[in-house]
This record gives sequence, structure tokens and C-alpha cells, in this order.
Amino acid sequence: VKRVTTHILQKMKVDGEKISMLTAYDYSMARIFDDAGVDVILVGDSASNVMAGHETTLPITLDQMIYHASSVVRAIKRSFVVADLPFGSYQGNSKEALSSAIRMMKETGAHGIKIEGGEEIVESVKRIISAGVPVMGHLGLTPQSIYKFGTYAVRATEEAEAQKLINDALLLQEAGCFAIVLEKIPALLTKKVAEAIHIPTIGIGAGKYADGQVLVMHDMLGINKDFKPRFLRRYLNLYDQILEASKQYIKDVKDRDFPNDNEQY
Ligand code: KIV
Ligand code: NA
Repeated sequence: VKRVTTHILQKMKVDGEKISMLTAYDYSMARIFDDAGVDVILVGDSASNVMAGHETTLPITLDQMIYHASSVVRAIKRSFVVADLPFGSYQGNSKEALSSAIRMMKETGAHGIKIEGGEEIVESVKRIISAGVPVMGHLGLTPQSIYKFGTYAVRATEEAEAQKLINDALLLQEAGCFAIVLEKIPALLTKKVAEAIHIPTIGIGAGKYADGQVLVMHDMLGINKDFKPRFLRRYLNLYDQILEASKQYIKDVKDRDFPNDNEQY
């Protein structure tokens, strides 16, 4: 199989072929997504929420992200694997950002990293890229700054914030990012950004004009029972299915139905 590269992702934008991206945090799920043909697998710091049960993405550490990313990479034959640098591992200065990116690349085999922010992180983006590490940007709702925003509501609905977002996208492109995630912004702003830059935009809650789409696997598979934002399309209701399977297993054990004569040595 031919591996997905940043050049292939760039060509997809030029050709008008939409880019598919999903998050994964472990070997077994990543293997299924890679087999299905997902173009990009994101080892998101949403692991902090969906894997570790924290309320925000802030607590997860670089070591923990490295554990998740290395597990994912071992499963991959075709997908391009991007790993999030977590909160606190790159905001200090560009030297710290570079050493975090290098640790991620060296210790996991990921193909690129993602960091949140615009103008504030441009120096770090340049420094990481100059070391040969592909960087994906992330604008709009940036969960590592949740305590600055105060809410997970739609971002950049006001003109000033929309203008800053477009400017940030141009700066990230100029710095050399190979793609930018746009999270929870109005569809028409996504359209403007996608038209203003030549690198791919990948949206989550950012509407149909993005060059690609990303969803958190637990959300699209219906494992997060109570998370039902408008932008989410659920492809399975795994919470209910796993609940029913677990109940059936409990019943079978209690009833002495499992194991039966054929299920023992
Ligand atoms: O951590 C994550 O899952 C993400 C996506 C929502 C883009 O950053
Ligand atoms: Na993230």
C-alpha cells in the first residue's frame, strides 16, 4: 500500500478530494481505521477526556501522549499519523516546543505533530518545521485554552475574532504548516479560510467547506453517551451495544450458560 504523505494531502486539496481524519489512541482501533482507509489518524490530546476521564485536555502529559502515539503507530500501514503536543509541552518557548516535537517523533514514529494557536506559536512552528517535522495547525476552538474562553461554544462569530483567525491561518501557512484543523467555527468562515490558503483545512464542527473532516472516534462511534453536539454524526451507538453485550455476558455467567461444553478444554 502507498503511504499517505503531506504531498498527497496537498494534492487532495488541489484535486478537490476530501480528506478523512479520525482520532485513535490505541493499537487495536488504529488498525481498524487504517484498514478502512482513513487518510489521517490523529492521536489527539482528547485522550485526556476519552481515555483518561479528565474534564479537559490540560492534564495529559507528553509521556502519556507518547504512549498513545507509539501504540497507534505500531498499527499503521497506510494512514498519515499526527500526534498532538499536549498543553505545557510547547507554549514556553520555541526551543522547548522543538524538543517536545523531537521526543514525539523519535519515541513514537508519528509522521507529524499538531499544536494549537496562531500568531503566538509561529516561532515554534517554524523551528519545529526547520528540524524536518511536519506541523498541523489548530485554530478556532482550541481546547487547551478553555479557561481563557470560558466555554466550548462556537468561536469566531464576531468580525474581529474572524479576522484574527484568517490572519492566523495565513501566518501558519507562511510558517510552513502542511494543514490546519478548524474547530467549531461558522461554515462561511471556514469557506473563507479554505479559499485564502493553499494548504488543506480539516474541520470539526466547521461545516462543509473544509478540505477534510475530523471526528473524535468515541463521538462518531457513539461511545460518549451524552455528547450530542449539532455537528456530530453518529455512525454507531456503541455505548448501548456494549452495555447490552456486557449485561448478556453477566447473565450467561450467572445462569451457568457460559462456558458451555464446547467452550472448555
Ligand atoms: O484532540 C483532538 O481530538 C483534536 C481534534 C478534535 C481535532 O484535536
Ligand atoms: Na487536540
